[in-house]
Amino acid sequence: MAKKTKVTEKSVPAKDTKPAENTVKEKKIQVTETVLRDAHQSLIATRMPLSDMLPILEKLDKVGFYSLECWGGATFDSCIRFLDEDPWDRLRTLRKNCPNTKLQMLFRGQNMLGYRHYADDVLEYFVQRSVANGIDIIRIFDALNDIKNLQTAIKAARAAKKENPNVEAQVAISYTTGPVFTTEYYVDYAKRIQEAGADSICIKDMAALLTPYYTAELVGAIKEAVDIPVQLHTHYTSGLASMCLLKGIEAGADRIDTAMSPLANGTSHAPTESMVAALQGTPYDTGLDLVLLAEIREYFMGLRQKYIDSGLLDPKMLATDAKALIYQVPGGMLSNLLSQLKQAGKEDQLTQVLEEVPRVRKDAGYPPLVTPTSQIVGTQAVFNVILGERYKMCNDQFKDLVAGKYGTTPVPVDPEFQKKIIGDQKPVNCRPADLLEPELEKLRAEIPEWIEQEEDVLTYAQFPKVAPGFFKKRRDKKIGINESADLKNNIHPV
Ligand code: CO
Repeated sequence: MAKKTKVTEKSVPAKDTKPAENTVKEKKIQVTETVLRDAHQSLIATRMPLSDMLPILEKLDKVGFYSLECWGGATFDSCIRFLDEDPWDRLRTLRKNCPNTKLQMLFRGQNMLGYRHYADDVLEYFVQRSVANGIDIIRIFDALNDIKNLQTAIKAARAAKKENPNVEAQVAISYTTGPVFTTEYYVDYAKRIQEAGADSICIKDMAALLTPYYTAELVGAIKEAVDIPVQLHTHYTSGLASMCLLKGIEAGADRIDTAMSPLANGTSHAPTESMVAALQGTPYDTGLDLVLLAEIREYFMGLRQKYIDSGLLDPKMLATDAKALIYQVPGGMLSNLLSQLKQAGKEDQLTQVLEEVPRVRKDAGYPPLVTPTSQIVGTQAVFNVILGERYKMCNDQFKDLVAGKYGTTPVPVDPEFQKKIIGDQKPVNCRPADLLEPELEKLRAEIPEWIEQEEDVLTYAQFPKVAPGFFKKRRDKKIGINESADLKNNIHPV
């Protein structure tokens, strides 16, 4: 038997040489561990505090993961809204404790981590501060797959390479299904992503809609069309994630997203250890140490039990549910729809709403269903059903989506429908952020009393309603104010 040569980065084919078909070359698959971000976002509403991460960071840093995904819109939001943690402080602490592994964040293009479009000056500053505080890989996506909404973010990430050569501008394709979302559609988008200057591409299947054989077709076609690495991100919801990853790897995917097994499966990802074991001794061997992973698993098993005992982790979330494949909507959206209906006392109309979602989506130009479009389309579908008349009432976000203010939809919106929804308002056809004046200085001027670090203006920009309350609590904690403080005499117990 021929002696196996050790797989190194160098054995991956150079950029402009494509491997001959049907020959499996040794190719180390790189692994992004999501337990610090998407796994707990998917299972426990992003409530893992930094204190639960700290004891295991040193070991996570030793594994040799390609990256640790640890930051994003929901982690940021949860930090200031529920955990009273400064998200920037969290990032700096993670950086300090994981000096050997790239840190990765998820970034909603021109929406950054918020829910509206930001002016370019704010976005550029956000990217710069994220990198300065420890981020290496910025995974950028747009809910509409509109490349115009990604351009500034890609440029800003590339500019940040001067400060940190590890910086990677990764663009994620929001994967969805529907009549226009053919393999050609994705290949065309992948080519445009490469042209826009991305360092790598991620196929982001946030709703767990990928199936194994289609994954092979999709990855193969994209790998044919571009030279940059392709990463696969899918959820376990319908029970197909590890099969999708495996077929994707066979078709040429370079990297996969997984989660440590105690917080894997269900609405989360394929278990890290299982994928590592599945690839061990094959040309795709990840090289990661299963014994070290088993030690890390022990730690997360403790957390998992704690979250189950406190009610934070509902074991139902860990069950397989192929409904997403039937309704073609993300799991999170299903639970949102149900809670909206409950509030209106119309839980019995869930089926009608689920039937209305694809119709609203068609009317709105087939947006992929991901934040924020999933909420916008979902809410409109609920309105249409509970009011008994379609589009009797529309909220501003739906009008903005139809007006083109979020960007160009995959399919043009029917002008007649557009007129019905937005009236005489002029539709937007350019890059939406081109209509925005620089706003960083204005935002700074709004909160001078709260600024303790330069990043605070960015926290405020993205969460203007929640941030002031968080800033106040942060200050109170610092100067030791608590309920028993004698405010009149300015005496605070230490
Ligand atoms: Co995800």
